[in-house]
Amino acid sequence: MELSTFLNNMRDPSGIPFYPVVFQFLMVLTYALHITMINLVIGSTVVALAQARRGEYGARLAKALGRVVTVSLSIAIVLGVAPLLFVQVIYDPFWYTANTMSAFWAMMFLVAVTAAFYAGYGFYLGNRKTDPDTFKTGWGWVSLAFLLCAALIIHMLSMEQLLPHHWKTWLISPLGQYETGGGAFHGIALGRLLHFLLPSMAVTGVYLMLYGWYFRQRPDYDPEYLDYVVKLGVKLAFGFSVVAAAAGFWWIGEIPSEFNFVRNPFLLAGAIGGIAFVAYLGQAHLNPEKYAVHTAIAMFAVIFVMCCAREGLRMDYAGAAGYSIFDYKVNTDWPSTLLFFASFLMGLCVLCFPAMAAFRAGRAPRGEVVTLDPAHGKRAVTMLIVWFAVVAGLGVIVSLKNGTLF
Ligand code: HEM
Repeated sequence: MELSTFLNNMRDPSGIPFYPVVFQFLMVLTYALHITMINLVIGSTVVALAQARRGEYGARLAKALGRVVTVSLSIAIVLGVAPLLFVQVIYDPFWYTANTMSAFWAMMFLVAVTAAFYAGYGFYLGNRKTDPDTFKTGWGWVSLAFLLCAALIIHMLSMEQLLPHHWKTWLISPLGQYETGGGAFHGIALGRLLHFLLPSMAVTGVYLMLYGWYFRQRPDYDPEYLDYVVKLGVKLAFGFSVVAAAAGFWWIGEIPSEFNFVRNPFLLAGAIGGIAFVAYLGQAHLNPEKYAVHTAIAMFAVIFVMCCAREGLRMDYAGAAGYSIFDYKVNTDWPSTLLFFASFLMGLCVLCFPAMAAFRAGRAPRGEVVTLDPAHGKRAVTMLIVWFAVVAGLGVIVSLKNGTLF
């Protein structure tokens, strides 16, 4: 059977409920958020381990980053679910094949993520009360090792999806038997993996600049410590943006020349954005805190454009195999689409309240009570109640209509 016939027949026969380009945009956006948070997790772990034994300020920073790892890993995992769902919707033949062919590794991915998470907690909790001389790094190393294993596995699953013309050789043993063990592990492209992992240090550098900007207002924070942190931050951001760009060239070298990826408009825009970002960081050296917020926005813009380029590349690979997401049968379903977007907006509005509270509380000196206008909290709770009522109500109505409730 032709590869394209096989791929197109594996699509969900009921089609998709809305235009594929919308799913694609959301997939890229949420992936950009996911990879930014993953970069922060990996970078914070590395910087914490490197700083742990570098005197008083280093140990204090390591302790702070130990805490960042636990929180940002939770956010990264939650943010990973979104692109996972979108990729399953528009690239389902690719995603499910990779996940069954490498089922053992897909399971190991979950083990690695869980182990990284618990070890990250071990690192944070184990050092909460230690002084610089007794800082323990063991759990930090364990967490880092599992994070890198998780990255390698999800990278392999992403790569296997891009190479459908190899699936047959990977699935059939030399003796002609169909391999059902799920142990396949193929397609590693080190340049690509490094291009997505090396920015970890740059992202953490920008985070440290934000850290200085955020805590400078607190009278109980030693200004010299904050100077130490922001200087380190801007140095990391600058140096590792350059290193990540170099890995980008390696990645480009791994891509088949027939895709002409160097001419991809997103790649070109990302490269120009990357150069401008590095130049901007050169300027930020002078006063890292003043530039911190703009640097963070610019960094995310560059990451997003690079994620668009990554998706453009996937379209090239899929196109070469005769598959396009734009050929997906669309069975427009307005109610579920509206419910989805309304839930999304509602979630953002509800989250504003705890985010505002955390932002204000973190900036107040230790022991000071911060009060927010209770109207914000009431609004957030009311929205949640209305949302539950609408979702449960719709569920009951649809089930009654379909005769599945009684
Ligand atoms: C905690 C450790 C994790 C690390 C270090 C990590 C790292 C990465 C990296 C490096 C990539 C890019 C791979 C490539 O394009 O070559 C990636 C992609 C992705 N990750 Fe994560 N990830 C982690 C956790 C998660 C979790 C828990 C989920 C899901 C809940 C997830 C969902 C995804 C998805 C959906 C993609 C894109 C796959 C595709 O486009 O085909 N990740 N991740």
